[in-house]
Amino acid sequence: MKFDPWAVKDVDNYSKLFKEFGIERFKYGEKFPDNRYFRRGIVFGHRDFGKIAQAIENKKPYIMITGLMPSGKMHFGHKMVADQMIWYQNHGANIYLCCANLEACLMRDIDAEEGKKLGIEEYLTNYLALGLTSKNLNFWFQTDYDMHYHQFRDKLAKRVTLNELKAVYGDLGPEKILSSLTQAADIIHGQLPEFSGKMPTVVPVGADQDPHIRLTRDIASRLRQWHDIELPGATFHRFMEGMQGGKMSSSDPKSYIALTEDSASARKKVMSARTGGRESLEQQKKLGGRPEECSVYQFYHYHLIDDDKELEEVRKQCKSGSLLCGECKKKCADLVVNFLEEHQKKRQKAKKEVKRII
Ligand code: TRP
Ligand code: SF4
Repeated sequence: MKFDPWAVKDVDNYSKLFKEFGIERFKYGEKFPDNRYFRRGIVFGHRDFGKIAQAIENKKPYIMITGLMPSGKMHFGHKMVADQMIWYQNHGANIYLCCANLEACLMRDIDAEEGKKLGIEEYLTNYLALGLTSKNLNFWFQTDYDMHYHQFRDKLAKRVTLNELKAVYGDLGPEKILSSLTQAADIIHGQLPEFSGKMPTVVPVGADQDPHIRLTRDIASRLRQWHDIELPGATFHRFMEGMQGGKMSSSDPKSYIALTEDSASARKKVMSARTGGRESLEQQKKLGGRPEECSVYQFYHYHLIDDDKELEEVRKQCKSGSLLCGECKKKCADLVVNFLEEHQKKRQKAKKEVKRII
């Protein structure tokens, strides 16, 4: 298996960074070649994924849990997690999907009801349009859920010290303490007898989320005295960069394309995206482009070109200088617009299903 060098650019750095914390290299791309993010090294690290791989292979039950803070538009950066979730659902997972509206309320001052509305209209509707179904799906709001979850969360206060929380979150206030305990409850509660019971659990997260995961695993290991549970595991993925370089962030509309974006605006964003092109046409023909620094290529790599050979062809043509950025951006814009038009039709259908789930 050959990895695209663009994808693995930072893995060595990450590995060095994480070695001391015991994150392992993710080597399941060959075992599960139908997962683009695994196959291309976008998911580069894990904790305890072996148990999940076994559960998938032996058709044994397991949990995939993730949560999203409802704070704005859902964009292509979020789609990566949604796609993974759908992959897990198609591979037998019990899906635990949380609308983190308490966290949004405490950390971003978004009213809990407003957060619910955003969570439904943005996230849940898009997830279903992308292919998530109600099969083995447990969707909840942090503010408003099963009593056992709330009781469990409250009891976690006794299983962690203030110093531990400070070590993870730095400056601490009551809002961060409550958010972090709630997140730990989100991840662990599915294994309680009132829910799915003991089983391996995976949380797909961005590379920067490991402190939460370690904290949650520490809490889980202390709980084992009272509860028969597995330590939750995780996979770590690389984030997409913003369309202008830098961070892709919900608070900067120029940095992302939303899944509800209209075609004209999406096309404009692609056509003005930061590329890995050279200063002049002449130079680009001579030196070739730099796909590893190009947000257009990144879109192909994460989302738009699923066929590895086709992607490799684009990369080669770019590097050889035979493909130029104008043409390449136009191709990308066409693919994005096509995708968005289809997706937005599917959103209309998804709305009925959303009502049923809620
Ligand atoms: N804190 C996450 C965010 O900022 C949201 C979240 C809440 C979450 N509970 C979770 C993520 C459980 C993973 C698992 O988006
Ligand atoms: Fe990026 Fe395409 Fe230009 Fe290469 S040719 S740098 S992939 S836009």
